[in-house]
Parts: sequence; structure tokens; C-alpha cells
Amino acid sequence: MIKGKHLIEPTDLTLEELDLLFDLALAIESNPKDYLSELNGYLLASLFYEPSTRTRFSFEAAMLRLGGQVIGFSEPNSSSVSKGESVADTIRTVACYADIAVMRHPKEGAPKLASKHSPIPIINAGDGGHQHPTQTLTDLLTIRSLKGSIHKNVVGFCGDLKFGRTVHSLVKAMARYDDMTFVFVSPPELAMPAHIKDSLGSHKIIEVNNLEDVIDQIDILYMTRIQRERFFNEEEYLRLKSYFVLTKDKLSTAKNDMIVMHPLPRVDEIHPNVDEDPRAVYFQQAQYGMYVRMALILKLLKGDAHA
Ligand code: CP
Repeated sequence: MIKGKHLIEPTDLTLEELDLLFDLALAIESNPKDYLSELNGYLLASLFYEPSTRTRFSFEAAMLRLGGQVIGFSEPNSSSVSKGESVADTIRTVACYADIAVMRHPKEGAPKLASKHSPIPIINAGDGGHQHPTQTLTDLLTIRSLKGSIHKNVVGFCGDLKFGRTVHSLVKAMARYDDMTFVFVSPPELAMPAHIKDSLGSHKIIEVNNLEDVIDQIDILYMTRIQRERFFNEEEYLRLKSYFVLTKDKLSTAKNDMIVMHPLPRVDEIHPNVDEDPRAVYFQQAQYGMYVRMALILKLLKGDAHA
């Protein structure tokens, strides 16, 4: 039963719970008007200690489209965080006012810490380089909807695999599906951490430094940004930032039914001339993000007692 749970890592939900969540997200997408007043009287606290466009707006839009309301901050310095208040005290206080809270934080583990002090469900909206479970829900729903199944795909992850929380979350979540092949494409300095690779059991892993060498084998290409904010050294960032740029030409050897995903924001790793290619699905992916967050909030607050 998902009602009342915290979502800190994607594996906090079983595969069966994920399937039910995705079914609900697609039902909402088909008939959004049926859900307009599901959460009348409920309040979401939106606690963003780090910048966001998609995650924050899609959560807030999700709550509003369900008839609920939103309080919170997008800039922690506008709250008592600026006076040194701890995450534990902030969440204890917010829980006096709201029914559910979503938290993004630059420090790994902050949402988990919050969950230990919280009587209301906490949703991790991204913690440092660790996990981004609702991006993973978004990604899995996109793959299930557009590829028909999550099982038995060759998935290419390209870019910053060292610091990228979206790829860490998605790879760990995909390891629960059958017969996956993981293709990791990165400069050696930004390779997938060993502890993630070690968690992949018997799934096949291919590691390369060059996308052109493997693009023809890939069913799902997951591009990521080289993240300036995670580098300690600006020179190193500048050297690596344009290592991969996906262009229309580079897609010429890719499968016709491959899909190109990206959690966004992008900088220059996907040239805008790729956007018109039907295989580019990253804005559709962003829209699935709102529907899956609507389904998640609804399930966490009401379980199966919804329309
Ligand atoms: N994909 C994602 O997390 O985007 P934002 O940082 O804009 O929320």
C-alpha cells in the first residue's frame, strides 16, 4: 500500500506499485477533468533548496490540477533556513501546515533525514548527486508508453554519469527489469561509479568513450548535461562540457525507432536541430512528468480511494 509512504529512492516502490502508478498517470492524461477536485482541501509544501524548473513546476501544476493548493519556497534564503534552521526542524514545522512535502536539496540524504522527522509523506525531488526518484518515474513512464515495455531494451546513458543523479536513479530502477543492456558513454573522468555498476547483477554492461561507436545498437538514448555546479574545478568543467554534442547527422546511423530522452535542462549536448526528429521525445517526457507526479501525490495521499 503506497498511501502515507515516503519516496526517497525509486526502489521504495515495488514493480507492481509502479505499474499501478503508471496506469493511473495515463488515466489522468486521458481524462484530466475527472480528477480536478480529487485533492480539494489538501496542501502540498514545495521545499526547493536548489533551483528547478521542471520538477518544481510539474509538482505544483500537478497539485493545482488535482484541486489542491501549494505553499513553499523556491529560494531557501526567503525562509528561516537563512537563519540556520535545520532540515529536521523545518520539516517538523511544515508538517504542522501541509499534508505532503516535496524536497530538493544539494546535500545527499537530506530528504531521507527529513523523512525520519516527518509525520507527512516526503518526496525526494533530487538530493545532490544521489537520487532523483520522480525523474525516474517520469522516465519509466515515458519508456513504457513510447516503447511498449521497459524490459529487454538496450539503454544508452551518455554524458555525466559520475555526478548525474537522474542516471543513478534510473539505472538502479531499470536493473529490476528483465534482460537489460546498459551502455555507458562518458569521458573517463565522468564514468559511472563502480557501486552503481556493481548493483546491476547479470545485466550486460558496455562502457565506451564515444557515442558514434554504439549508437546503432541503442533502443533508448538517455542524454545528460555536464553539470557545472557539481565540479570543483572550472577548468575541468570547460574541458569536458562539449565532449558530446548529439546532432541530426549523428542520428543517421541510429535505429528508426530509437528514442532520445533527456531529463533537461540541456546546455549544448543536444543540438536544437535534433528537436524536429520524431525520435526526440524529451519535451513529451517532461509532460509525462506532470502526469506521473499527479498520480504519485494522489496515491500517497489517498491510496486507492480516488476516481
Ligand atoms: N529534470 C529536472 O530535474 O529538471 P529541473 O532541475 O528543472 O527540475
